[in-house]
Amino acid sequence: MILDGKILSKSIKENLKNIICASGKEVSLAVILVGQDPASCIYVKNKTNDCHEVGIKSLEYKLPDTTKQEELMDLIHKLNNDDSVHGILVQFPLPEGLDESAVVKAISPQKDVDGFSKINVGGVLMNDKDCFVSCTPAGALELIKSSGIEITGKNAVVIGRSNNVGKPMALLLLNEGATVTVCHSKTQNLKEITKQADILVSAVGKAHMITEDMVKNGAVVIDIGISRIDGKQVGDVDFENVSKVAYAITPNPGGTGPMTRAMLMYNTVKAAGLL
Ligand code: GUN
Repeated sequence: MILDGKILSKSIKENLKNIICASGKEVSLAVILVGQDPASCIYVKNKTNDCHEVGIKSLEYKLPDTTKQEELMDLIHKLNNDDSVHGILVQFPLPEGLDESAVVKAISPQKDVDGFSKINVGGVLMNDKDCFVSCTPAGALELIKSSGIEITGKNAVVIGRSNNVGKPMALLLLNEGATVTVCHSKTQNLKEITKQADILVSAVGKAHMITEDMVKNGAVVIDIGISRIDGKQVGDVDFENVSKVAYAITPNPGGTGPMTRAMLMYNTVKAAGLL
């Protein structure tokens, strides 16, 4: 089975659009892009397009890479205090010299639609349904759940321990009742562990590192990694061969990527009090 993020994200966005329409409320997301990192420019453009599709007002702030930390903080404080703004997203990575962790701390947790703040990450840990869940792991979980795959009691293996993806992914699966193992760059005998996985989630960013021999027959394989070969986006998973042994698998691109953006829209509608 192919876990198609394009199809599912479309239906989630359609549903959100209907909710906004029915409410008659104006929902708005402020997106701040500092500098001109090419990948970030594309991500921000995609997010703006999603906002248009869903009927969310998108406020774009494009700042030069000479922006000082203080100017960025001032803008965040202004947006925190603006009741017409429901969500705030500062696109990462920031240009050198700017402090990302200070930015995460400055954004009001109630407007932190990325789900990066301590309050929201803590909310995920405590299985608090009121918090904002980091969009990439939230989208990956939604792909698994919406396809009817049972998670409770399964062995889940997450490769990657980043604060925004690997760690919250592991917590979400744990909250669903999976037995979770987190692997990372220092893990020994990776293949022995991944072979045990009923659900294998890879969030590394190393092209095609997950090969057929690392995957249990009938496993569910979720590919969150993004890297490039000759300028073309590829995932962590050798899709062509792993799809022969997996029960369900995400394509990459077209799997978890579109789901991340759908969950950003979901969090923004939630921040506006409509969910
Ligand atoms: N850069 C790459 N992915 C993301 C994301 O999900 N949120 C933010 N703020 N920056 C990113």
